[in-house]
Amino acid sequence: MSQVELAVEALRNSGLVVLPTETVYGLAADVSDPGAVARVYAVKGRPANHPLILHLAAGARLDTWAAQIPEYALGLAANLWPGPLTLVVNKTDRVGGYVTGGQSTVAVRVPDHPIAQAVLTEFGGGLVAPSANLFGHVSPTTAAHAEQDLADRLIPDVDLILDGGPCEVGVESTIVNCTGPAPEILRPGTLPLSDIQQAAGVALVESTDPTIRVSGALESHYAPAASVRLLTSAEQMRPDPSLRPRIGLLAPYEIPTPAGVVRLAAPRDELEYARLLYASLREADALQLERIEVIGPDGDSAAVRAIRDRLNRAAADRPS
Ligand code: TXA
Ligand code: MG
Repeated sequence: MSQVELAVEALRNSGLVVLPTETVYGLAADVSDPGAVARVYAVKGRPANHPLILHLAAGARLDTWAAQIPEYALGLAANLWPGPLTLVVNKTDRVGGYVTGGQSTVAVRVPDHPIAQAVLTEFGGGLVAPSANLFGHVSPTTAAHAEQDLADRLIPDVDLILDGGPCEVGVESTIVNCTGPAPEILRPGTLPLSDIQQAAGVALVESTDPTIRVSGALESHYAPAASVRLLTSAEQMRPDPSLRPRIGLLAPYEIPTPAGVVRLAAPRDELEYARLLYASLREADALQLERIEVIGPDGDSAAVRAIRDRLNRAAADRPS
């Protein structure tokens, strides 16, 4: 059997499948299987009130899962799916409350990855898939990252890890709330706001509702074990020479690496920065570095905002 056939068989038997997508790796389960979905929460160590994203095959009927879909959301779906975009819409009875944390809305996305699409198409139904990391940790952008976090919590011969190589995008999808009169960005991703605006056909509104549960909205999230310090320029790097071998630097390529400091990545543009971000944070932990000094990318494109958002969370104070 092919990897895709094995994955579909595992999902039909209530197994979990680590699945590559274009953004980050997901931990997939059959949306219609309450026991499998419960295991997704248990394996991640994720609180039950943090809802999951429903993943669908390209061309799947959205109205099976979503009700009262506004015109602008249909525009977003038609123009930007498959792609790194998640739409929050009102759910139908087909989506159990165990998926949405009891909310009447569901987050839906059609991933743009050949393996994810092959599994979804062959499976035929919907798959929940949160990022395949332990709750609060950095999202995985390779199969090995997901394995590091989850391998000893998965069940051999029941669950499966599919390896699709490193993820193209590297940060999670843009989440857009489509339950109001106009689209509202709940989680920034790399999709340009002008593309979202154009596909929606109406102006975006600023996010205002603090009660909407976006787990990434927790202060400390996407965090490595090493401490993360955000700098605005290389001049701010004045590490004690004795500490240098324990310090990593993530910064745009034009920033030089001080002697003795470990360069984690030197991305040439913001999309490469997004692609390398999580792998760099994980690399720092693999090297047992004490601290990661970070200089973010310049500008205010969607990708730059998405990177800053994840960096701020990685640098936020941790609950002890
Ligand atoms: O790129 C992605 O979106 C990846 C890949 C695997 O598809 N998935 C992902 O899932 O990032 P997760 O579970 O790590 O993040 C899902 C986010 C959470 O912050 C959750 O709170 C939010 O989506 N969410 C899910 N359902 C929602 C809803 N009904 N209303 C508002 N936010 C929702
Ligand atoms: Mg996540």
